[in-house]
Order: sequence, then C-alpha cells, then structure tokens
Amino acid sequence: MTTPTHAAATFTALQVMQDAPVIPVIVLNDIAHAVPMARALVAGGVRMLEVTLRTPQALACIEAIARAVPEAVVGAGTVRSRADAQAAANAGARFAVSPGYTSAVGQACRDAGLALLPGVATGSEIMMAQEDGFTELKFFPAMQAGGPAMLKAWSGPFFDVRFCPTGGVSLQNAADFLALPNVVCVGGSWLVPADAMAAGDWARITQLAADTQALRVG
Ligand code: 3PG
Repeated sequence: MTTPTHAAATFTALQVMQDAPVIPVIVLNDIAHAVPMARALVAGGVRMLEVTLRTPQALACIEAIARAVPEAVVGAGTVRSRADAQAAANAGARFAVSPGYTSAVGQACRDAGLALLPGVATGSEIMMAQEDGFTELKFFPAMQAGGPAMLKAWSGPFFDVRFCPTGGVSLQNAADFLALPNVVCVGGSWLVPADAMAAGDWARITQLAADTQALRVG
C-alpha cells in the first residue's frame, strides 16, 4: 500500500470558497460511508468537501475519498494543531479549515502545503490572521456570534477580508449571508444529515447538494 502525497497546495483558500455556494461540513463515523457520501455530493455539484477531524475514522475517510473520488477535493475540518495539519495532509487533504486561529496552525498548514480557512469570531482574531497573511476566513460560529449583521459591521474596517460563515447556517438563511459583498460561500452540515448517512440514502444527499446550486449569485 502506498501513501498518498499532496505536498503542494493546488487550490488557494479563495478557490476553495468560490467553487460552490456551500462547503459541506461532514462528520463521518463509518469509513464505509466516505466514498458513497463524497460521490453523492459531487453528483449534486458540490466537490469541495470538509471532513471534520472529530471522529477516529476521519483521517481514513479523507484518505479513502482522496483515492477513490478524484472529482472531489477533500479537505480537513476541525484542524486545531500542527499534528492535525500534518496528519490531514498525509491522508490526502488539500485544504484545511480551523474553528479558531493560532499562528502555529497557520504555519503548520503552510508547511504541509494546505490552503487554510482560519476560523475567527472577533476583530482581534481577524487582525491576527491578517498579520499572518490570511485574508479569506471562516466566520465561526456564524449565527451564534452575530450572523449577517456582524459581517456587515466588519465590512467597514475589514474591507479587504472575505468570509465563509459557518455554524447555524441552513438552506433557509444561507441567502442572507451570500447576499453580503464580503461573503464568498457558507459552510454547513445540513447537506450530510447523520440519518441519511446511516440509512445509505445517497440520493437524498445528492438532492440536498443540488438544492444549494440555486444559491449561486451573479
Ligand atoms: C461545525 O464545525 O460544526 C460547523 O460549524 C457546522 O455547523 P452547523 O452544524 O450549524 O452547520
């Protein structure tokens, strides 16, 4: 068995954000679900896939998707440490998403060749990420931390930052975020419901992904 290597980032954070209106936030508990789930999302037009490092199977799932679903671009979510970044890159992840930001995680992703969407919830965190050269950021947890009104307030002082709001975003409120000039895409777990995954209802996941195409602006 060979180890996949993805030393160079082939996508920038902006390209990851621009590919579709929604980046699905995926929690996988069973490696058998990884490949059919990824294929179902791709069939619905969603190919940037954030697999969260929250389950023991997450890295194996990333590796399986990277090997078997070349149409997908698999990334790792919940990246909180240098070790997470290295493990994600070794498994075949091509981008990373973090729930917060530290310079150590930023540097680790650079070292691992991973585009990073750093998580921020305050102005100080935005400034720290910007100091380290990151201008495309995840606003997390978006609804809990102020929703669209917060992003409107940030658009003044942080006019040069673009966001992917994630946390409490749904098909119902996604358009409110996507209408903002400083929002490129949103993130959300609603495309991959746990019950659909458990039931192997891949057609439902494809439909949920296809439904998000109507959110495209411009
Ligand atoms: C997360 O990291 O859990 C994401 O923010 C997903 O949030 P959601 O379940 O509210 O979409």
